[in-house]
Amino acid sequence: MNIQHNVSLKPYNTFGIDVVAKHFVTISTLEDLKAVLELKDYPEKLILGGGSNILLTKDVNALVILSRLKGISITSKTDDTVLVKANAGENWHEFVLWTLSHDFGGLENMSLIPGNVGTSPIQNIGAYGIELKDHFESCEAINIETKTLTTFNKEECEFGYRNSIFKQHEKGKYIITSVTFKLTTKNHILHTNYGAITAELDAKGITNPTIQEVSNAVIAIRQSKLPDPKKIGNSGSFFKNPVVDKSVYLQVLKQFPDLPSYPVSETEVKIPAGWLIEKAGFKGKRLGNYGVHQNQALVLVNYGGATGCEILKLSSVIQQTIQRIFNITIESEVNIL
Ligand code: FAD
Ligand code: EPU
Repeated sequence: MNIQHNVSLKPYNTFGIDVVAKHFVTISTLEDLKAVLELKDYPEKLILGGGSNILLTKDVNALVILSRLKGISITSKTDDTVLVKANAGENWHEFVLWTLSHDFGGLENMSLIPGNVGTSPIQNIGAYGIELKDHFESCEAINIETKTLTTFNKEECEFGYRNSIFKQHEKGKYIITSVTFKLTTKNHILHTNYGAITAELDAKGITNPTIQEVSNAVIAIRQSKLPDPKKIGNSGSFFKNPVVDKSVYLQVLKQFPDLPSYPVSETEVKIPAGWLIEKAGFKGKRLGNYGVHQNQALVLVNYGGATGCEILKLSSVIQQTIQRIFNITIESEVNIL
């Protein structure tokens, strides 16, 4: 194993923030990961996947462990379902394409989400009406303290909207090493009602889509809205969509009759934070090297050379303004380090 020192993390985070990791190691086997966790010289450790959900605001003193554990295997099959285990360092989108190439259904709506498979349970990634939890069977994770490997089933992960135990009471305690998914091998259940998927398929004259065609539609929609991190630094949605009590929603609705919302439960609704941010006048706003994306107000961007602190400061101004105008609290989705 090759431990490097004073390594720039710019190529390892999609915001493209240039901070330095004091110590840095890439792991590609479970044995290497266990050996790294035993190292006494580096008490602080930070696991990094694709770096697509972090904002780095300062140099990192910890040993940064870059997860590149590879491997995909079919672990069991029934008549119409299959369990597929993917190691944590697999790229999420490449893994989705692998499932589609085998005609395994379930993950197509989550095409083109950046990052690693191993990070997908942390915030229960989701897009276009499907969340990770809908096809999650279990994951394996190493406890950083005890170095024991534990399996977590779906209930134990306590998945919620952009949430799991790994963001709550088990935060920072485990490194996920693999995730097992339950997928369909026939009679795939398609979810095409969400967002512009149907319109995209209609435009192509597709009436009876395959899972590959749904994936292509999702990819096209995402490419039209979200900035490509290879061209403009970003971490996707910077904030979560706030889930508020219906009474709060009705109060705001009085003043803003065009306020959109989605039902969550009998008593709660979800409000698109992108709408609130746009209404507050931030959409497309640029402050030097950074700003708010012109096509998606929920995405903060680094045009090149911005610092994490500058982007964090902008995010605080947005949060305060939304609170002041709408009396609604928006929380960051991105992990701020
Ligand atoms: P990283 O940024 O590397 O890590 C995120 C956090 O998880 C860090 O705190 C890190 O320490 C921890 N971590 C990383 N790996 C592990 C591990 N193996 N075990 C334990 N902890 C770990 N998200 C969605 O849900 N839906 C979307 O539609 C979506 N669209 C996006 C679009 C763009 C353009 C971008 C840039 C991001 C988008 N995201 C979306 C956010 C992001 O892709 C996901 O959160 C993704 O799961 C992050 O994976 P990562 O490997 O890059 O995580
Ligand atoms: N909207 C605006 N202005 C904007 C952006 C959005 O008014 O600039 C409003 C519109 O009313 C629009 C609604 O917000 O109809 C929803 O917008 P969109 O479909 O783009 O989705 P989103 O709520 O902004 C969420 C996820 C995305 C995910 C998409 C598609 C969160 C925080 N974000 O975005 O996930 O890809 O839905 O399912 O839930 C991410 O987590 O990083 C991410 C990109």
